[in-house]
Amino acid sequence: MKILSIETSCDETAVAILECSGDPRTDTFSFKVLGNSLHSQIGSHEQFGGVVPMLAKREHAKNLIPLFKQAIVSAFPETVIEQTSDKKTNIGVEKLSEIFGREEEFKNNFIAYFTNLTKPDIDAIAVTQGPGLEPALWMGIIFAKALSFVYNIPLIPVNHMEGHILSVLPQKISFPALALLISGGHTELVLMRDFLQYEVIGQTRDDAVGEAFDKVARMLDLPYPGGPQISRLAELQRDELSRKTQTSTPEYILPRPMINSKDFDFSFSGIKTAVLYSLKKDSGSHIPYPESPQIVAKEFEDAVTEVLIAKTFRAIDEYNIKTLIIGGGVISNEYIRKSFSEHAEKYAELKLLLPDPLLRTD
Ligand code: KG4
Ligand code: ZN
Repeated sequence: MKILSIETSCDETAVAILECSGDPRTDTFSFKVLGNSLHSQIGSHEQFGGVVPMLAKREHAKNLIPLFKQAIVSAFPETVIEQTSDKKTNIGVEKLSEIFGREEEFKNNFIAYFTNLTKPDIDAIAVTQGPGLEPALWMGIIFAKALSFVYNIPLIPVNHMEGHILSVLPQKISFPALALLISGGHTELVLMRDFLQYEVIGQTRDDAVGEAFDKVARMLDLPYPGGPQISRLAELQRDELSRKTQTSTPEYILPRPMINSKDFDFSFSGIKTAVLYSLKKDSGSHIPYPESPQIVAKEFEDAVTEVLIAKTFRAIDEYNIKTLIIGGGVISNEYIRKSFSEHAEKYAELKLLLPDPLLRTD
């Protein structure tokens, strides 16, 4: 079957067309991304130092139709979808008014565009239903509902976190599997004993990993999103240290919160607070004032990585995990990826699955 899927949970608008068949547990399984169009709003939110929900909402409403068109054209290059004949899509304006509610402009653009289209070769519409930013999610849901209505095909609500987990398809998942989800909004360890069976065995008690990266970056006056910036500085510091033999200054060491706790929960706000105090010269912090932002970036990345590795691999031991999946925006971090790969190599029976780089974002 072919599924048109829509995602608007945060600051990326995405429309993709997937073709899948067979049972993912067997060799009959086939899964292909036929078309994939994505628009990142980072440029619009950057000036505010973070994602502004109402701005995200407006951008989604503006971009969904053009992205739909792009995705359809890349999935079905032979198909003429714009029609001027009497084969026009039968638009039920009354029902659409109900679906779009107060989103008048979005509704009018939808009607203007879809009246001239024939139905593409798709069997269902999928949409992220949450978790995410409420106003942003709502634009994707409205659009998906409207498409499901005009094409008269089923609507499939999808959990955002489940999307990150299954972004490793069509790679084969052996069970029990463990997913570590690390993004700007979430840090979770999810145990999967089979497809569609999820048990959250651990999660952050305060900040998400990506959020901590972004907040520390802000303390260092680095632009949003902070993750890639911190990681760039940390790499510079590692390079520098590999050339130096001795340091005479006291070491800059951050805490590793909950690293030895028996559960699988995380806490990152303590690391962030430690950074904040160390940057205030008169705060009485026992961590020395850092000589450069690079020092903070490297130690922060080290601390976060150590905690993630410790917790994840303890869960792998305890549940006898066969597949480790890592998803979410933070897996773009090269140091974290490399650390997980090196650790996973020590386990003969463990397979590490990461999404294709294009599918790491929302
Ligand atoms: O999954 P995602 O695209 O959006 C959601 O939050 O759902 O993740 C975005 C997060 C941001 O906090 C961003 O700073 C972080 O992923 N990120 C990184 C890197 N690239 C993106 N964090 C650390 N290192 C990176 N290279
Ligand atoms: Zn996400």
